[in-house]
Amino acid sequence: RHNLSSSTTQTIPQAHYNVVFDIDGVLIKGKQVLPQTHRALGLLQSNNVPYIFLTNGGGLKEADKAEQLSKKIGVHISPKQLILSHSPMRELAQKYEDSNVLVVGGNGSECRHVAEHYGFKHIVTPEEVHAVFPSVCPSSAREARSKYLQNVHRPVEAIMVFHDSVDWGRDLQVIMDALTSQDGYLTSVKTQKELHITPQTVPLYFSNSDLVWSNEFPTPRFAQGTFRTCLERIFEEKTGHKLQYTLYGKPMTATYEYAEAVLNRIAPAHMGSDGMPKRRSVYAIGDNPYADIAGANGYGWQSLLVKTGVFQPEGDENHHTHPATAVVDDVEDAVRWIISREI
Ligand code: G3P
Ligand code: MG
Repeated sequence: RHNLSSSTTQTIPQAHYNVVFDIDGVLIKGKQVLPQTHRALGLLQSNNVPYIFLTNGGGLKEADKAEQLSKKIGVHISPKQLILSHSPMRELAQKYEDSNVLVVGGNGSECRHVAEHYGFKHIVTPEEVHAVFPSVCPSSAREARSKYLQNVHRPVEAIMVFHDSVDWGRDLQVIMDALTSQDGYLTSVKTQKELHITPQTVPLYFSNSDLVWSNEFPTPRFAQGTFRTCLERIFEEKTGHKLQYTLYGKPMTATYEYAEAVLNRIAPAHMGSDGMPKRRSVYAIGDNPYADIAGANGYGWQSLLVKTGVFQPEGDENHHTHPATAVVDDVEDAVRWIISREI
């Protein structure tokens, strides 16, 4: 692992523009690092361009993901440069300080650690519910064991999906149990009349709205948005009402505001001749038109759509619903396009 910065970058003034990288489908595909990744980062470092990573992935702490990514790519990445889907959800920790929160995703314990790291005090996971009540999902092949069982009998007061579920059947069941329970007690259920009058009293949050994402498999894979679609359908079938929820992650504005604050910390805005901070010029590079391109366009950033991930056009055409500023082959082309435009 090494830092790509060379001594020459010290003498080049920091560029007045910034680059925001998506990760999956742009820099990596599952376990593989795309061949253009290292060259793309090297080009930005040698031009002293500040950059950050904004991913809809998650399921672990920012520091752990930064370390994992640094090892994988072979370039040092600081946690200060990295935003995960659930990073902006740390703002919810204060609001739910006294509440018992059902945290869903991954293998349970990692998302529990993320939530603790953000300051949530009372956490329960589907794993822990399953460990206490094996019959909660008898069809699950997963063995449920956990040392954190203290909150299973407390009412669930909020539900937060932090990451893709590894056991959809079990997690859909436990979320539905919480949503349709009386006052959040998991072993209780509202009457039909109560469900009709107040179908949902427990607030629900998702960290990522992507229907699909891109790994080594030739075609895109289900992501958290597909899990949500299943839950929406089940909830509507059961209650006759639409599921209510709040979304984080790309393309939501809260995530872009969070990203802008991160950029302000790592690369303070340049001052104009009027003494006011200049509006920053930001280029987002992504593979998912509905997340990366819609989000960047909506926030007033430039957007570059690569063809190495979710977006797989026949030729050179742009996306019909969320056209990017430019469509390029891969992340290296994207960086070259940005630099040539800024020179
Ligand atoms: O679950 C989807 C997520 O992994 C996508 O990540 O880096 O493409 O935003 P990214
Ligand atoms: Mg992606």
